[in-house]
Amino acid sequence: MIETTTKSISQSVEFLRKVSKDVPEAAVVLGSGVKVLEALSDEQSFSYDQVFGISPTIVGHAGSLTLGRVQGKLVAVMRGRFHLYEGHDWEVVTLPTRVMIEWGVRHLYLTNAAGGLNQEFAVGDLMLLTGYRDHLNPKWKETGLIPALMSAPTACANELTNHIWAVGEKLAKSDQRFRPLKSGTYAGLLGPTYETLAEIEMLRRLKSDAVGMSTVPELQTALGTKTVAAAISVVTNVWSDDAAIDGHEEVLKAAKAASERLDKLFRAAIAP
Ligand code: HPA
Repeated sequence: MIETTTKSISQSVEFLRKVSKDVPEAAVVLGSGVKVLEALSDEQSFSYDQVFGISPTIVGHAGSLTLGRVQGKLVAVMRGRFHLYEGHDWEVVTLPTRVMIEWGVRHLYLTNAAGGLNQEFAVGDLMLLTGYRDHLNPKWKETGLIPALMSAPTACANELTNHIWAVGEKLAKSDQRFRPLKSGTYAGLLGPTYETLAEIEMLRRLKSDAVGMSTVPELQTALGTKTVAAAISVVTNVWSDDAAIDGHEEVLKAAKAASERLDKLFRAAIAP
């Protein structure tokens, strides 16, 4: 674990209350390479350092919080996140989420770049984590090699997830270029290395549809609070039996390509 000092939740919230008299209706966390909600009206941007007292170090994670409006609705767009694989502890990884909860943000939209395990998925698909099978959280760290599956209540069986799904269906009907959303189970692994083919096979047998290295801590943190969270994976690569992932560059490129659709989806979901 690396030693980090951050602002406390109340210090971060105090900063945000000073710069904005309104509490945003929605906060959005953008994963690797995901580019949406650019050029909002009444924009003001702050570095993560200003807001949280700490900056992300991973390429593709800008580390900025932008406040702006989508058709009059105030939104906080957080570009970048902290990961367990960077050596941060759970407290640091979930700090932005806990700050949004404390500030009183009603809806939290989480995004991530993920590898597709479901063979019906294609690069660029958007997978909503839905219903009672939203994620697996193998506790690699605590248990060594044997994944102990999470037994907490499901995180995504909520009205925000249902709302996003409905918005996605409507967009797919009215716009031929909008690929229908997929839904499925996300396996959140510690990383930072991508999976071996044996691990991919294991995750498939555990009925995961996509795999990534984030989002689970944030979902679990929001669960049971007044902030309702939903999560969506941008499928940046699809694992086949002889697949190899070129690495972070490939992930960033694919995430950018899917961003136009995700942007449409989020704008329509935030301001229906
Ligand atoms: N595995 C884990 N994380 C990822 C992947 C993957 O295949 N693609 C994008 N993020």
